Amino acid sequence: MIPQSFIQDLLNRVDIVGVVERYVPLKRAGANYVACCPFHSEKTPSFTVSQIKQFYHCFGCGAHGTAVGFVMEYTGAGFVDAVKDLAQGVGMQVPEVKSERPRGKTEEGDDLYAVLLKAAQYYRQQLKNAPRAIDYLKKRGLSGEIARHFGVGYAPDGWQNLQAAFPDYNAKALVAAGLVIQGDEGKRYDRFRDRIMFPIVDQRGYIVGFGGRVLGEGEPKYLNSSETALFEKGRELYGLYQGRRAIRDAGRVIVVEGYMDVVALAQHGIGYAVATLGTATTPAHAQKLLRQAEEVVFCFDGDDAGRRAAWRALENGLEQLADGKQLSFLFLPQDEDPDTYVRKLGKEAFEKLLGDALPLSQFMLRELSSRVDLNTHEGRARLLHDARPLVKQVAAPLLSLLLRKQLAQMTGISQQELDAQFQVKSNAMAAAPRRSPPVQRSIVRWLIELVMVHPEFARQIERDALEPAQDVANINQAELKTLRAMLEAAASGETVVNWPEYFRASEHEGLLRQVEAGLLKRQEVNLSLDEVKAEFSGGWSQLLEQIRRGQLIALNEKSKKQELSSEDEDRYRQLSQTAPAAAQK
Ligand code: UTP
Ligand code: MN
Repeated sequence: MIPQSFIQDLLNRVDIVGVVERYVPLKRAGANYVACCPFHSEKTPSFTVSQIKQFYHCFGCGAHGTAVGFVMEYTGAGFVDAVKDLAQGVGMQVPEVKSERPRGKTEEGDDLYAVLLKAAQYYRQQLKNAPRAIDYLKKRGLSGEIARHFGVGYAPDGWQNLQAAFPDYNAKALVAAGLVIQGDEGKRYDRFRDRIMFPIVDQRGYIVGFGGRVLGEGEPKYLNSSETALFEKGRELYGLYQGRRAIRDAGRVIVVEGYMDVVALAQHGIGYAVATLGTATTPAHAQKLLRQAEEVVFCFDGDDAGRRAAWRALENGLEQLADGKQLSFLFLPQDEDPDTYVRKLGKEAFEKLLGDALPLSQFMLRELSSRVDLNTHEGRARLLHDARPLVKQVAAPLLSLLLRKQLAQMTGISQQELDAQFQVKSNAMAAAPRRSPPVQRSIVRWLIELVMVHPEFARQIERDALEPAQDVANINQAELKTLRAMLEAAASGETVVNWPEYFRASEHEGLLRQVEAGLLKRQEVNLSLDEVKAEFSGGWSQLLEQIRRGQLIALNEKSKKQELSSEDEDRYRQLSQTAPAAAQK
């Protein structure tokens, strides 16, 4: 156990702004710093970091915590690792934790991360002196810039080249890091020889292994690091670290099969792809992916192997799925992979293809029904039998409901009969809203403040989008009415300078006076015009997102009482699909 007093000391020394900035570029806004939230997908910033409070908070998804919490949440590190990471940054020594040897350290105390980093630097250096390797990369359409972005290198031919980078070639750490193979009779040699080297980087930006490709033909085509203390294939995703920004901006992530697919897509402007490392998609992968983006698209070859791989991904994704998140499946034309496809046809064609990806539910039902003859009782019974274990795994209650409905329809039984067979209780569905919206100042109120100070922004707003907010429980209806009245006034061309005066003796006056008084007291309003603009569109898209979530929650409630009409179901489908788009305006 790390003593609580140490954590306190640590938090006093660390500056959360610097910590967050290591991963997320921050912009100053008044007393705080803001950014697009790394924990949910959005186009405008609602993630704030307070230097004074040493706290982060996202007004969009409610994520919040200290520097330690941030490192844990962002990198997926455990508590101890997060504390160590931070302590190292400020030169503090964590009191020894008995139970486990620090990850990344060998018995002798060598730091494997440092070893791998040094090796990567060596391989990169070698690439510069290897025209054959450079030619190969050029032939595959890669620019120097992209090669640098991924840290691509070259391991020269020969058995003990790493000696040049590591004078003590006999160090245990080289074997522990998976770089050197200990042969029989005590002979050692480099694992990677005459290969293009792709460093595999974990979510914190540390190199944990390599993939090495032969320059032409040869077996194996790709050689991966063996699993080491640092590297577990089933957890890592190639390109996730390099693509973190593009993924956040796009609100989605594509999962492809190969190193070169990731790199080639990035070369063509699609930076939000990652690859599994020659393994099937594991639940750990699925969880990691769904944390990064609302939408995950698995992209596979169109052949049988691709279909099987897709099915594995589906099975492992079911439990990680939540309403409002989307998994879909894209099958490429015969004999294409993302690399060849994007090189031939370019970014737009590839993104168009993405748009046609099959949603998980469709892929699931299509696959299952293709295996049976739906015209016979036996076939339909088989369909239900096959679907049951899958449907029971679906963690998203509304999606589960829709799947059951459709299955019932396909097989000609009622949903009650199906639920009884599947042993699901219709009312057991948890209304599982994601983290609740902020409690402090509501978003509506924030927008009122902004319109008060800068009425010109109000004119650009699509007021109709506020319509459904009337039914959303956690939106303050009085504030909402006032905001609408203000927007209406602004849209009608009125130039209002004094809002409380303008609404004198109406139901809005009291609230507006309160808001005005609050405004005068606070200094955050001294934002630059650009910042106000950003705040305004950020606030607006947060509000839309809040409305969307509120509707989903209301639908969830209804479905618990089994009161969902077919329009409601359509609406649910729409709402859960427009997740990333809702933030656009
Ligand atoms: P593919 O065989 O589909 O190759 O392997 P690719 O990605 O199209 O490679 P290029 O375009 O010929 O360079 C897909 C992935 O499977 C793993 C690697 O992770 C590879 O990127 N793999 C493949 C191996 O680990 N070892 C192999 O020998 C082959
Ligand atoms: Mn390929």
